[in-house]
Amino acid sequence: MTEAVKEVPKANIRVELLNEFKGEDLNDLCDATEATMKDTYGFSIGFHRSEPLVRDRLEAYFKGVLLVPERQLVVGRYDGTIAGSIQLIKPAASNQTSAFAASVDNHFVAPWARGHGIARKLLEEAENEARRCGLTLLKLSVRATREAAIHLYETCGYTRWGTLEKYEIMAGEIVAGHFYYKDL
Ligand SMILES: CC(C)(COP(=O)(O)OP(=O)(O)OC[C@H]1O[C@@H](n2cnc3c(N)ncnc32)[C@H](O)[C@@H]1OP(=O)(O)O)[C@@H](O)C(=O)NCCC(=O)NCCS
Repeated sequence: MTEAVKEVPKANIRVELLNEFKGEDLNDLCDATEATMKDTYGFSIGFHRSEPLVRDRLEAYFKGVLLVPERQLVVGRYDGTIAGSIQLIKPAASNQTSAFAASVDNHFVAPWARGHGIARKLLEEAENEARRCGLTLLKLSVRATREAAIHLYETCGYTRWGTLEKYEIMAGEIVAGHFYYKDL
C-alpha cells in the first residue's frame, strides 16, 4: 500500500515598497533585524547588539529611514509578517554628476524566513524601483565571508570590480569586502 504524500504548503512571499509603518510592521521589522543580528556574526545596521537600548535605537533608525528622501525601504513579507528588507539609496538631488547611479544597503532576511527567495525578490524590487526612477547603475558591497549574499549578487548579474582588504573592523580584526555594480 502506498502512503499518501502530504503536500507542504508553499510560503506566501511578497515584497513591497514601504512608506509608512502600519499595525505590527515596525515591530516585526525590528524583530527580524534583531534575529539577524543574533544569528549572523557581524550583521549590525551600523551598531552592535551589545550596545544598550538596541530596540529603541532600531525603532528610531527605521522611523528615520522613512524620513530620508533619498532612501527607499523595501520589505519582504512571509505570510504577511515582515521578515527582511533592503534599502535603495538614490543620488542626492544636488548630485548632478552621478545622477544615474544608486546603491543598495542593509539587505537581510531573518533566519526563520531564509531559503524562500525573499532576498532575491527584495533585490529585484529595489532594481525595479531604481529603473522607475530613471537610474541606470546600481552599486553594492559585501563582506568577503558572506557566501550566501555573494552567490545571490553574482547570480543576479552583479559584476565584481574590486576587493578592499580593509573593508570593516570586526571584533578587532580587519575584514575584506567585495564591490559590485550592475547596469540596469
Ligand atoms: C544573504 C541572505 C540575505 C539570503 O536570504 P534568503 O532569503 O535566504 O535568500 P534567497 O532565498 O533569496 O536565496 C538566494 C540564493 O542564495 C543561496 N544561498 C543560501 N544560502 C547559501 C549559502 N550558505 N551559500 C551559498 N549560497 C546560499 C540560495 O541557494 C539562493 O540561490 P539559488 O536561487 O541560486 O538557489 C540571508 O542569508 C541573510 O540575511 N544573511 C545575513 C545578512 C547578509 O549577509 N546580508 C547581505 C549582505 S550585507
